[in-house]
Amino acid sequence: MADMIVPRHIAMIMDGNGRWAKKRLLPRSAGHKAGLDRFVEICDACGELGVEYLTVYAFSTENWNRAPEEVNALMELMSRGIVKYEPQLEKRNVRLKLLGDLERFEPKYREALIGVQERLSKNSGMVLSICLSYGGRQELVYAVNRLLKEGKTEITEADIDRTLYSAGNPDPDLVIRTSGEYRISNFLLWQSAYAEYYFTDVLWPDFDKKELLKAIESYSKRERRFGR
Ligand code: IPE
Ligand code: IPE
Ligand code: MG
Repeated sequence: MADMIVPRHIAMIMDGNGRWAKKRLLPRSAGHKAGLDRFVEICDACGELGVEYLTVYAFSTENWNRAPEEVNALMELMSRGIVKYEPQLEKRNVRLKLLGDLERFEPKYREALIGVQERLSKNSGMVLSICLSYGGRQELVYAVNRLLKEGKTEITEADIDRTLYSAGNPDPDLVIRTSGEYRISNFLLWQSAYAEYYFTDVLWPDFDKKELLKAIESYSKRERRFGR
Protein backbone atom coordinates (compact mmCIF):
# COMPACT_ATOMS: atom_id res chain seq x y z
CA MET A 1 0.00 0.00 0.00
CA ALA A 2 2.59 2.47 -1.15
CA ASP A 3 0.07 5.14 -2.11
CA MET A 4 -1.70 5.01 1.25
CA ILE A 5 -2.49 8.43 2.71
CA VAL A 6 -2.48 8.13 6.49
CA PRO A 7 -5.02 10.56 7.99
CA ARG A 8 -3.57 13.03 10.44
CA HIS A 9 -6.56 12.61 12.74
CA ILE A 10 -8.67 9.45 12.96
CA ALA A 11 -11.81 9.33 15.11
CA MET A 12 -13.63 6.10 15.95
CA ILE A 13 -17.07 5.15 17.19
CA MET A 14 -16.25 1.82 18.82
CA ASP A 15 -19.64 0.11 18.54
CA GLY A 16 -20.89 -3.47 18.64
CA ASN A 17 -19.45 -4.89 21.87
CA GLY A 18 -22.86 -6.09 23.08
CA ARG A 19 -23.70 -7.89 19.84
CA TRP A 20 -20.24 -9.47 19.76
CA ALA A 21 -20.87 -10.94 23.22
CA LYS A 22 -24.43 -12.00 22.37
CA LYS A 23 -23.23 -13.98 19.36
CA ARG A 24 -20.99 -15.93 21.75
CA LEU A 25 -23.66 -16.29 24.45
CA LEU A 26 -21.49 -14.20 26.78
CA PRO A 27 -22.55 -11.32 29.06
CA ARG A 28 -22.29 -7.81 27.57
CA SER A 29 -19.42 -7.07 29.93
CA ALA A 30 -17.34 -9.73 28.12
CA GLY A 31 -17.90 -7.77 24.91
CA HIS A 32 -16.71 -4.56 26.57
CA LYS A 33 -13.62 -6.37 27.86
CA ALA A 34 -12.82 -7.66 24.36
CA GLY A 35 -13.48 -4.15 23.04
CA LEU A 36 -10.96 -2.67 25.45
CA ASP A 37 -8.27 -5.13 24.32
CA ARG A 38 -8.99 -4.21 20.73
CA PHE A 39 -8.76 -0.51 21.52
CA VAL A 40 -5.27 -1.01 22.97
CA GLU A 41 -4.19 -2.83 19.82
CA ILE A 42 -5.68 -0.22 17.44
CA CYS A 43 -4.13 2.60 19.45
CA ASP A 44 -0.69 1.02 19.03
CA ALA A 45 -1.30 0.44 15.33
CA CYS A 46 -2.25 4.10 14.81
CA GLY A 47 0.92 5.21 16.57
CA GLU A 48 3.03 2.96 14.35
CA LEU A 49 1.32 4.26 11.21
CA GLY A 50 2.13 7.83 12.16
CA VAL A 51 -1.40 8.99 12.98
CA GLU A 52 -0.94 12.23 14.95
CA TYR A 53 -4.37 12.34 16.62
CA LEU A 54 -6.63 9.46 17.58
CA THR A 55 -10.01 10.21 19.14
CA VAL A 56 -12.23 7.41 20.38
CA TYR A 57 -15.83 7.38 21.58
CA ALA A 58 -15.89 5.21 24.69
CA PHE A 59 -19.02 6.35 26.58
CA SER A 60 -21.71 8.79 25.47
CA THR A 61 -23.94 11.08 27.52
CA GLU A 62 -26.80 8.83 26.33
CA ASN A 63 -25.03 5.70 27.60
CA TRP A 64 -25.81 6.86 31.16
CA ASN A 65 -29.35 5.65 30.41
CA ARG A 66 -28.27 2.00 30.21
CA ALA A 67 -28.93 -0.48 33.02
CA PRO A 68 -27.01 0.55 36.16
CA GLU A 69 -25.15 -2.78 36.22
CA GLU A 70 -23.81 -2.19 32.73
CA VAL A 71 -22.89 1.44 33.50
CA ASN A 72 -21.01 0.33 36.62
CA ALA A 73 -19.22 -2.46 34.80
CA LEU A 74 -18.16 0.01 32.10
CA MET A 75 -16.91 2.61 34.60
CA GLU A 76 -14.86 -0.02 36.38
CA LEU A 77 -13.48 -1.49 33.18
CA MET A 78 -12.62 1.86 31.57
CA SER A 79 -10.92 3.40 34.57
CA ARG A 80 -9.02 0.22 35.45
CA GLY A 81 -8.13 -0.30 31.79
CA ILE A 82 -6.67 3.19 31.41
CA VAL A 83 -4.68 2.84 34.63
CA LYS A 84 -3.37 -0.56 33.53
CA TYR A 85 -2.48 0.73 30.09
CA GLU A 86 -0.65 3.83 31.40
CA PRO A 87 2.90 2.35 31.29
CA GLN A 88 2.40 1.28 27.68
CA LEU A 89 1.07 4.71 26.71
CA GLU A 90 3.99 6.31 28.51
CA LYS A 91 6.47 4.12 26.66
CA ARG A 92 4.86 5.11 23.36
CA ASN A 93 5.05 8.81 24.34
CA VAL A 94 1.24 9.14 23.94
CA ARG A 95 -0.40 12.30 25.21
CA LEU A 96 -3.77 11.59 26.79
CA LYS A 97 -6.79 13.89 26.78
CA LEU A 98 -10.14 13.02 28.32
CA LEU A 99 -13.07 14.70 26.60
CA GLY A 100 -16.44 14.87 28.33
CA ASP A 101 -18.31 15.62 31.52
CA LEU A 102 -16.15 13.76 34.04
CA GLU A 103 -18.11 15.37 36.90
CA ARG A 104 -20.71 12.66 36.43
CA PHE A 105 -18.18 9.95 37.32
CA GLU A 106 -17.85 8.58 40.82
CA PRO A 107 -14.91 10.39 42.49
CA LYS A 108 -12.73 7.26 42.72
CA TYR A 109 -12.98 6.70 38.97
CA ARG A 110 -12.67 10.39 38.12
CA GLU A 111 -9.55 10.83 40.22
CA ALA A 112 -7.86 7.74 38.75
CA LEU A 113 -8.58 8.91 35.20
CA ILE A 114 -7.48 12.50 35.78
CA GLY A 115 -4.27 11.25 37.42
CA VAL A 116 -3.33 9.32 34.28
CA GLN A 117 -4.29 12.27 32.08
CA GLU A 118 -2.06 14.59 34.09
CA ARG A 119 0.93 12.29 34.03
CA LEU A 120 0.66 11.71 30.29
CA SER A 121 -0.05 15.34 29.39
CA LYS A 122 3.67 16.16 29.11
CA ASN A 123 4.26 13.57 26.36
CA SER A 124 4.86 14.72 22.81
CA GLY A 125 3.78 11.78 20.63
CA MET A 126 0.34 10.85 19.31
CA VAL A 127 -2.53 12.68 21.01
CA LEU A 128 -5.08 10.14 22.22
CA SER A 129 -8.42 11.72 23.09
CA ILE A 130 -10.88 9.45 24.87
CA CYS A 131 -14.48 10.68 24.85
CA LEU A 132 -16.05 9.69 28.16
CA SER A 133 -19.46 10.88 29.24
CA TYR A 134 -19.26 12.80 26.00
CA GLY A 135 -21.97 14.21 23.76
CA GLY A 136 -21.49 16.60 20.85
CA ARG A 137 -24.46 18.76 21.84
CA GLN A 138 -23.44 18.85 25.48
CA GLU A 139 -19.91 19.87 24.39
CA LEU A 140 -21.28 22.78 22.35
CA VAL A 141 -23.40 23.97 25.27
CA TYR A 142 -20.34 23.70 27.53
CA ALA A 143 -18.30 25.80 25.08
CA VAL A 144 -20.98 28.50 24.76
CA ASN A 145 -21.37 28.68 28.54
CA ARG A 146 -17.63 29.20 28.89
CA LEU A 147 -17.84 32.06 26.40
CA LEU A 148 -20.77 33.63 28.26
CA LYS A 149 -18.67 33.50 31.44
CA GLU A 150 -15.95 35.36 29.56
CA GLY A 151 -18.55 38.08 29.00
CA LYS A 152 -18.91 37.53 25.25
CA THR A 153 -22.10 38.76 23.61
CA GLU A 154 -21.07 37.79 20.11
CA ILE A 155 -18.86 34.86 19.16
CA THR A 156 -16.81 33.52 16.26
CA GLU A 157 -16.07 29.99 15.03
CA ALA A 158 -12.57 30.35 16.49
CA ASP A 159 -14.13 31.09 19.91
CA ILE A 160 -16.06 27.81 19.76
CA ASP A 161 -12.96 25.90 18.59
CA ARG A 162 -10.93 27.06 21.56
CA THR A 163 -13.59 26.33 24.20
CA LEU A 164 -14.67 22.84 23.11
CA TYR A 165 -13.28 19.88 25.08
CA SER A 166 -11.25 19.08 21.96
CA ALA A 167 -9.51 22.48 21.89
CA GLY A 168 -6.06 22.13 20.34
CA ASN A 169 -6.93 19.09 18.24
CA PRO A 170 -7.36 19.59 14.50
CA ASP A 171 -10.68 18.43 13.00
CA PRO A 172 -10.87 14.68 12.30
CA ASP A 173 -10.01 13.63 8.74
CA LEU A 174 -11.56 10.18 8.96
CA VAL A 175 -14.39 9.00 11.22
CA ILE A 176 -14.82 5.22 11.45
CA ARG A 177 -17.94 3.56 12.82
CA THR A 178 -18.10 -0.18 13.35
CA SER A 179 -21.05 -2.58 13.75
CA GLY A 180 -23.13 -1.64 10.72
CA GLU A 181 -24.87 1.41 12.16
CA TYR A 182 -25.06 4.42 9.87
CA ARG A 183 -25.33 7.26 12.34
CA ILE A 184 -23.19 9.70 14.31
CA SER A 185 -24.83 9.19 17.72
CA ASN A 186 -23.85 12.66 18.96
CA PHE A 187 -20.11 12.29 18.24
CA LEU A 188 -17.92 15.31 17.35
CA LEU A 189 -20.81 17.21 15.75
CA TRP A 190 -18.92 20.48 15.30
CA GLN A 191 -15.52 18.97 14.49
CA SER A 192 -16.70 16.50 11.83
CA ALA A 193 -18.16 19.10 9.47
CA TYR A 194 -15.81 17.98 6.69
CA ALA A 195 -14.67 14.56 7.89
CA GLU A 196 -14.73 11.53 5.63
CA TYR A 197 -16.87 8.70 7.03
CA TYR A 198 -16.14 5.00 6.89
CA PHE A 199 -18.78 2.51 7.99
CA THR A 200 -18.16 -1.21 8.40
CA ASP A 201 -20.31 -4.13 9.53
CA VAL A 202 -17.39 -5.50 11.57
CA LEU A 203 -18.16 -5.41 15.30
CA TRP A 204 -15.70 -3.39 17.37
CA PRO A 205 -14.06 -6.38 19.17
CA ASP A 206 -13.29 -7.85 15.72
CA PHE A 207 -11.87 -4.60 14.29
CA ASP A 208 -8.18 -5.49 13.93
CA LYS A 209 -5.25 -3.80 12.23
CA LYS A 210 -6.24 -5.32 8.88
CA GLU A 211 -9.65 -3.65 9.15
CA LEU A 212 -7.98 -0.37 10.10
CA LEU A 213 -5.82 -0.55 6.98
CA LYS A 214 -8.95 -1.17 4.87
CA ALA A 215 -10.48 2.01 6.28
CA ILE A 216 -7.32 4.00 5.54
CA GLU A 217 -7.16 2.54 2.05
CA SER A 218 -10.74 3.66 1.39
CA TYR A 219 -9.90 7.12 2.75
CA SER A 220 -6.82 7.31 0.51
CA LYS A 221 -9.00 6.94 -2.60
CA ARG A 222 -11.33 9.78 -1.76
CA GLU A 223 -11.18 13.25 -3.18
CA ARG A 224 -11.77 15.85 -0.51
CA ARG A 225 -13.13 19.06 -1.97
CA PHE A 226 -14.18 21.14 1.06
CA GLY A 227 -16.84 22.84 -1.05
CA ARG A 228 -14.37 24.12 -3.62
C1 IPE B 1 -20.17 -0.02 22.23
O1 IPE B 1 -20.81 -1.25 22.23
C2 IPE B 1 -19.67 0.37 23.62
C3 IPE B 1 -20.46 1.43 24.25
C4 IPE B 1 -21.42 2.09 23.72
C5 IPE B 1 -20.12 1.75 25.62
P1 IPE B 1 -22.34 -1.40 22.60
O2 IPE B 1 -22.45 -1.68 24.05
O3 IPE B 1 -23.14 -0.25 22.12
O4 IPE B 1 -22.69 -2.72 21.77
P2 IPE B 1 -24.00 -2.98 20.91
O5 IPE B 1 -24.19 -1.81 20.00
O6 IPE B 1 -25.12 -3.15 21.87
O7 IPE B 1 -23.70 -4.23 20.14
C1 IPE C 1 -22.21 5.13 20.37
O1 IPE C 1 -22.69 3.83 20.46
C2 IPE C 1 -21.44 5.49 21.60
C3 IPE C 1 -20.20 4.77 21.79
C4 IPE C 1 -19.65 3.92 20.96
C5 IPE C 1 -19.51 5.07 23.01
P1 IPE C 1 -24.16 3.51 20.97
O2 IPE C 1 -24.33 2.05 20.86
O3 IPE C 1 -24.39 4.12 22.28
O4 IPE C 1 -25.05 4.29 19.90
P2 IPE C 1 -26.52 4.03 19.39
O5 IPE C 1 -27.37 3.88 20.59
O6 IPE C 1 -26.49 2.77 18.58
O7 IPE C 1 -26.84 5.21 18.55
MG1 MG D 1 -24.06 0.18 20.36
